[in-house]
Amino acid sequence: MCGIVGYVGPKSTLEVLIGGLRRLEYRGYDSAGVSVIANGQLETRKKAGKLNNLVAEIEAHPLPTAHIGIGHTRWATHGAPTDGNAHPHLGGQTSRLSLIHNGIIENFAELKAELLASGTKFSSETDSEVAAHLIAKAFERTGELVAAFTEVVNRLHGAFTILVIDQDQPDVVLAARRNAPLVIGLGEHENFLGSDVAAFVEHTKRAIAVGQDQIVILRAESVEVIGFDGKPAETEEFEVDWDASAASKGGWPSFMAKEIADQPQSIADTLMGRLSHDGHVSLGDLAALSPEYIKNIDRLVIVACGTASYAGDVGKYAIEKWARIPVSVELSHEFRYRNPIITPNTLVVAISQSGETMDTLMATRYARELGAKVISICNTQGATLARESDATLYTHAGPEVAVASTKALTSQITATYLLALMLAEARGASAPAELARLGKELLKLPAKVTDVIENLPQAMALGTAHADASSVLFLGRNVGFPVAMEGALKLKELAYIHAEGFAAGELKHGPIALIEEGQPVIVIVPSPRDADSLYPKVISNIQEIRARGAKVIAIAEEGDATVGDYAESVVFVPQTEPIFSAVLSVIPLQAFALALSTAKGLDVDQPRNLAKSVTVE
Ligand code: F6R
Repeated sequence: MCGIVGYVGPKSTLEVLIGGLRRLEYRGYDSAGVSVIANGQLETRKKAGKLNNLVAEIEAHPLPTAHIGIGHTRWATHGAPTDGNAHPHLGGQTSRLSLIHNGIIENFAELKAELLASGTKFSSETDSEVAAHLIAKAFERTGELVAAFTEVVNRLHGAFTILVIDQDQPDVVLAARRNAPLVIGLGEHENFLGSDVAAFVEHTKRAIAVGQDQIVILRAESVEVIGFDGKPAETEEFEVDWDASAASKGGWPSFMAKEIADQPQSIADTLMGRLSHDGHVSLGDLAALSPEYIKNIDRLVIVACGTASYAGDVGKYAIEKWARIPVSVELSHEFRYRNPIITPNTLVVAISQSGETMDTLMATRYARELGAKVISICNTQGATLARESDATLYTHAGPEVAVASTKALTSQITATYLLALMLAEARGASAPAELARLGKELLKLPAKVTDVIENLPQAMALGTAHADASSVLFLGRNVGFPVAMEGALKLKELAYIHAEGFAAGELKHGPIALIEEGQPVIVIVPSPRDADSLYPKVISNIQEIRARGAKVIAIAEEGDATVGDYAESVVFVPQTEPIFSAVLSVIPLQAFALALSTAKGLDVDQPRNLAKSVTVE
């Protein structure tokens, strides 16, 4: 939550900062602000609301040309989203120091009391402002900006990335990182800081992920990284493999529409180099898991939040079926605080698009403390989760900018399929010929996703037609159950209407009481071809709700000649292995939510109250 960007170099600082904030706006969009130093003078503009409000403010009150600056886009925690609470916050007797912050300073109340007692005046209700005053005061006392900064960040508890500039040292941006993301971008005679690489990928692909409890001293010609203890820190450079165009809308009406359409490519990229044409899976990224270790795994725990947890739910079916390892899927925030039973033979798999979700980070840290190995399925290079895992299986979905997750989800599900097949082979849990058959079927998934995308106008039309619905229910069994949950989540977050996903078999145990005349219900219908298919049971469930007035939209497999008799509308998706059908059937639900939200005139990329990356617990 909150996006942070910093720049020092010859370019127009304002352009770099606003460009970076545009790419980071998905992280929070309650308010935005920038500070620059020009001609030895600090200048700040900030405004509540989306970034465009700040741009209008700067047009009305232009900033001078500058070559150093910091910018922030906020997701409010302490203090309402007002102009006054927007970052940057200023410190010092002459307000010459400017600070931006992502995270929560947990001991801010005690620090604020200390500052108030010494006569400091506050102009916001934020926790962040205390840090600005403390650093400014320490600088006034010591005359050493880096020393003052180091002293104060050591006093802060909680989670923070902090960036500071001061007009008395107009050539340097200071940054500190504890439990919140920060990446350095390395340029020629210029350097960058960002919450993630999207902030500067337009300017450079060379990056360094800043480690926990580290401080960055950033100048145009040098980058120094030290620990909170003041000692030099080791850093490792990496090459960003996203290109800037991947993070732009490319002619689509919204990032979400583009990202839905990206899915054949993002799934193909996730499979690339990991699945041979004869269906054999090899996951070099997970080499840290020795064959011996894999054989001894007695349980697998998947930790994740929100949409990523539904990817885990689908993965559970695949891993249990093919690798025969018991799997539990846990919401990270619940797992961490209930004293779970973890042994060295428990493999913990953390799934996170951003790799910065604090709940998931806390869960994985806890699991490692208990002696478990942790692997992550992550979409963001240099993310904290990847750095703190024993190994990472990257989903190569490219940047996901829309707040609602779409292509990241289907890439995460694809990664769990790969993991399941790898574990199954390593443990000899399924016949090699069966694994090869599954692998070859998985290779066909991107082409089948293309067919789904081509047929999306139908799901979009259904979404538009339901713009007045006040409630939509979703039903599914087996992998259709997490798909139903995801369909409901997409609708809640994008269209702000009541939506719930149920296991279809659970209906008679209570939720069927919700059904009344005209209630729209989307049902994920399994394949009728499979001998063990739950098809007849789902058809019975449809009949039960129709008898009570439900209007049914079915997501069903091509070739199903019967389902049309039981539903008002049917969206067909290509035939595939039943467990792989989760990827195909979830995509029409993404499009349904997108169209319904658009028809209501809502912002599909930036739904209210949300931020893409939830970096607070
Ligand atoms: C919903 C959505 C969220 C995220 C969740 C975890 O569309 O995007 O539910 O899936 O906040 O985020 P990551 O995957 O970044 O850990």
